[in-house]
Amino acid sequence: MKLLGVLGNPIEHSRSPEIHDAFANISRIDIEYRRVLVDEGKFEDVARAFLSEGAHGFNITVPNKQDAYEFADELSHDARRSGAVNTIQRMPDNRVVGHNTDGAGLVADITLNLNWTPKEKKILIIGAGGAVKGVLGNLLETDPIGIDVVNRTHQKAVDIVEWINDGRLEAKHFDELDSGYDIIISGSSAGLKSNSLAPALPDQIVNEESRCYDMIYGSRLTPFLTWCRARNCREYSDGLGMLVEQAALAFNIWFERQVETGDVIRRLRGLL
Ligand code: ATR
Repeated sequence: MKLLGVLGNPIEHSRSPEIHDAFANISRIDIEYRRVLVDEGKFEDVARAFLSEGAHGFNITVPNKQDAYEFADELSHDARRSGAVNTIQRMPDNRVVGHNTDGAGLVADITLNLNWTPKEKKILIIGAGGAVKGVLGNLLETDPIGIDVVNRTHQKAVDIVEWINDGRLEAKHFDELDSGYDIIISGSSAGLKSNSLAPALPDQIVNEESRCYDMIYGSRLTPFLTWCRARNCREYSDGLGMLVEQAALAFNIWFERQVETGDVIRRLRGLL
């Protein structure tokens, strides 16, 4: 039996145990995947205790992805450029390697599950927190013409663009946005807060060719996607597929097994 888990706070609503249990079933691997609550300032203690219990690896969620970045002995390319770690891999010599599968998970969902093609397209990203920082590098690898970043706090968009340092990225104010982006991705947490409205976005960013993606998900359409649908966007999706894809990439890091995600996404959708 391999011990795994997800560390974060809050943790009781995490869907990761169900997702990894499904992958383990498909792969006929015996796992125990736990939710592990991390009290403030206690990440390192909790992570060390979990490894001492014999953990084979673990995932990290909000608000501990930066702590996990500091904790890792080595970092993958994706983890280094995003400044955050969502997957810890324990090596046979007990060193721990930090990975970040969020960006690759988003790109997998967009390109493989939804069949959207970011290549040579204009992309708008809303938000400039850790969630956005984690995916920009991978999105740039899909060869878009450009990615504009807009955020309530403009300076954070400027900082993130400087950090990634790629000529195709631009931090914009809300009143500088173009019309009709091909793909619009929200990485804002505004819609997670109950009764929260979509952020005040200019109408012209969406047209009937736009494809809109929200990195959050829920049982009801998110405020951002409700806003996009009301403006007749071409297609829209929430971030449930991203969640499953980033988990599949983590599972592959731990067990070198590529799992089929389609059924797991559909089953999870039914449970929401
Ligand atoms: P995460 O690591 O999940 O990305 P974060 O770093 O707190 O979390 O970032 C949350 C993002 O959602 C930020 O871009 C934040 O905007 P600010 O940088 O201005 O804080 C955005 N956000 C959260 N609540 C918002 C709201 N009510 N309106 C607009 N943007 C909001």
